[in-house]
Amino acid sequence: MGLERLAEVREAFLADLEAAGNDPEALEAVRIRYAGRRSGLLQELTAALRELPPEQKRDYGRALNELKKLVEGRLKEAAAAAGSRKAAAKVSTVDVTLPGRRPPRGAQHPVHLVRRRIENIFLRMGYSVEDGPEVEDDWHNFEALNIPPDHPARDDQDTFYMPSGHVLRTHTSPVQARVMERQSPPIRIVVPGRVYRRDSDLRHSPMFHQIEGLVVDEGITFGHLKATLETFLHELFSDVAVRFRPSYFPFTEPSAEVDITCIFCGGSGCGVCSGSGWIEILGSGMVDPRVFEKVGVDAERYTGFAFGLGLDRVAMLVHGIPDLRLLFSGDQRLTRQFA
Ligand code: DAH
Repeated sequence: MGLERLAEVREAFLADLEAAGNDPEALEAVRIRYAGRRSGLLQELTAALRELPPEQKRDYGRALNELKKLVEGRLKEAAAAAGSRKAAAKVSTVDVTLPGRRPPRGAQHPVHLVRRRIENIFLRMGYSVEDGPEVEDDWHNFEALNIPPDHPARDDQDTFYMPSGHVLRTHTSPVQARVMERQSPPIRIVVPGRVYRRDSDLRHSPMFHQIEGLVVDEGITFGHLKATLETFLHELFSDVAVRFRPSYFPFTEPSAEVDITCIFCGGSGCGVCSGSGWIEILGSGMVDPRVFEKVGVDAERYTGFAFGLGLDRVAMLVHGIPDLRLLFSGDQRLTRQFA
């Protein structure tokens, strides 16, 4: 009893306080244990004063007061420290000294890159870039392009029909008709865009991309068509030979398909060109006078040529992409390679 007991309690308090650290709950437990009103140890020590012999009361009382001050003071300090620690913890979830997190960097899609390259080649030759609707009417997608109602290109297999009788355009050629209807020659345009057909396999996707070209003026000949497309293909694929094969399209007469020597084997024959050494790259021809009549261009005065090619196919060739559907999968393992 007496002074030794006070010393014991003092030691115990300091040890408990130390152990509680900055944990507010542990500190509260220490406060209750020592300074609690009902059964705190200080309370008990105060009660013990009465039991002491009178000659010990003075020293004991003084020591007890010191102990009370110590307990109160230290508890206050600890509570303040814990409080500011807690506030600091809230704020410091953002450490402004850390380096910032870089957002992942996007990449341009390979089809977009090919489109821009082709547009730029034609822009340098004095063409402008035109646009047209993807939901197209029958007239522009077919009729104005001299595709009669019984033509196989209208087959349900190929065309997405809308309940309204509109179609999802099956090619970019309808924009030829739209531009000729609203603008008189000279016309020199390219038209990139999405087109739709009911088809899906390694080489076909229900949505794909084409770019269309149209030149209309006085005195335009097949020689202009050949020179333009040869120049274009040599710009796009260096070191290829170009050949023209007679073909048929309802909206051109005469028509030609254009091949380049295979960019993988150089013409000796490989899997990509099925051993032929040639790759078909575009369709073209002299604008059929019947198309001019339908869109109100004077066929006596003007001639023109047109061409169309698949942008996805070019992207696949240039980048060696084996499956067309990969281009539209959104798979970042593909697009990241173009960053
Ligand atoms: N529209 C044709 C297709 O989708 C491509 C084409 C061929 C466009 C010849 C033309 C052209 O302008 O003259 O297959």
